[in-house]
Amino acid sequence: MRIGTPLSPSALRVMLLGAGELGKEVIIALQRLGVEVVAVDRYPNAPGHQVAHRAHVVTMTDPAALKAVIEAERPHLIVPEVEAIATEVLAEIEAAGLAEVIPTARAAQLTMNREGIRRLAAETLGLPTSPYRFAESLPALQAAIDEGIGYPCVVKPVMSSSGKGQSLVRGPGEVATAWAYAASGGRVDQGKVIVEGFIDFDYEITQLTVRARDEAGVVQTYFCAPIGHRQVNGDYVESWQPQPMSPAALSRSREIAAAVTGNLGGRGLFGVELFVKGDEVWFSEVSPRPHDTGLVTLATQRYSEFDLHARAILGLPVDATLREPGASAVIYGGRDDVGIAFEGVDAALAVPGADVRLFGKPESFLKRRMGVAVATAGDVEEARRRAREAAGRVLPVSALPE
Ligand SMILES: Nc1ncnc2c1ncn2[C@@H]1O[C@H](COP(=O)(O)OP(=O)(O)O)[C@@H](O)[C@H]1O
Ligand SMILES: [Mg+2]
Repeated sequence: MRIGTPLSPSALRVMLLGAGELGKEVIIALQRLGVEVVAVDRYPNAPGHQVAHRAHVVTMTDPAALKAVIEAERPHLIVPEVEAIATEVLAEIEAAGLAEVIPTARAAQLTMNREGIRRLAAETLGLPTSPYRFAESLPALQAAIDEGIGYPCVVKPVMSSSGKGQSLVRGPGEVATAWAYAASGGRVDQGKVIVEGFIDFDYEITQLTVRARDEAGVVQTYFCAPIGHRQVNGDYVESWQPQPMSPAALSRSREIAAAVTGNLGGRGLFGVELFVKGDEVWFSEVSPRPHDTGLVTLATQRYSEFDLHARAILGLPVDATLREPGASAVIYGGRDDVGIAFEGVDAALAVPGADVRLFGKPESFLKRRMGVAVATAGDVEEARRRAREAAGRVLPVSALPE
């Protein structure tokens, strides 16, 4: 693969489908390598739109609209950055050899639906997962719980992310609420849920795993240091790297990550989510793209997860080494408003080892992720304190003059 000059006939063109905060960082990484980047998202002025060569607003779940933008732009590589995409179009484009889909169209198809990836991991690959069943009605959900999943359990729409529509069910009195919540929180296919037995893990990690070419041109698997994280209502609030682990748990985690990513194939970075208790490890899910908890790598690694993804998809070699322990803490909008402002960034940057990213999202919600603070330190505990302190000093305020 040759990299040409952007905006000229020799340009290497990459299209991102999804241009949120993670896509924005991938785009910046590609821009630094002289790639021409086209950003697509469902709303105008998405974070990645603001740093791409061209920006399109497209309903990516609409096959005709998705096809039209791909045909108009003729990218060499198509990089899905969200799950809600008409993936059958990607399969068509890939089969026709019109563009390379990252990592593969099949990976995008399998991971957009919890059923696809769960059946692959548990039934095809035989990896340990939580016990699970699928249900398409409230009585079927109740039966699945009664017939073996039991309480507590976790109910999730098969198509959702960031904890949307997900609930912990502690007893029979909570099943109907969980069903209704899942039915309202999913996307596209609203009628199906997965119910999983609750895993009482000690901690959970994201094992960032990179499939990239080595110097001989052969695709190899590389692992970043494990990332620990804390989720509230299924959404990440802080992460740190490295997560201390027993050697047995770490090697088991990497075995599982290698098996899943090896099956999905292609090139790129994957976020493999795992639950750990002692030396025991369960596979939870995988993103065939950078992971939100991996924002910490902006501070900790020689190459962030975004740099690694960019290099891997371009067929370039990668270096996944950790430079320094660090942490990230999310900055929420704190209000429902458009065009908000941020005060206290100066105070946040006065925290030793801290840095801040503001994503530039045009609209803020109370719990929308609007930015992130990252920090490094001699150890993870100190890095967590610094990242939380820096995030807390950034104050979202109304755009209106006082
Ligand atoms: N079976 C389970 N047992 C225990 N905790 C779970 C289980 N499933 C999900 N969780 C918790 O909820 C979080 C979000 O669930 P996940 O399946 O990753 O959904 P999403 O796709 O929205 O990220 C997990 O990171 C974990 O903290
Ligand atoms: Mg998850």
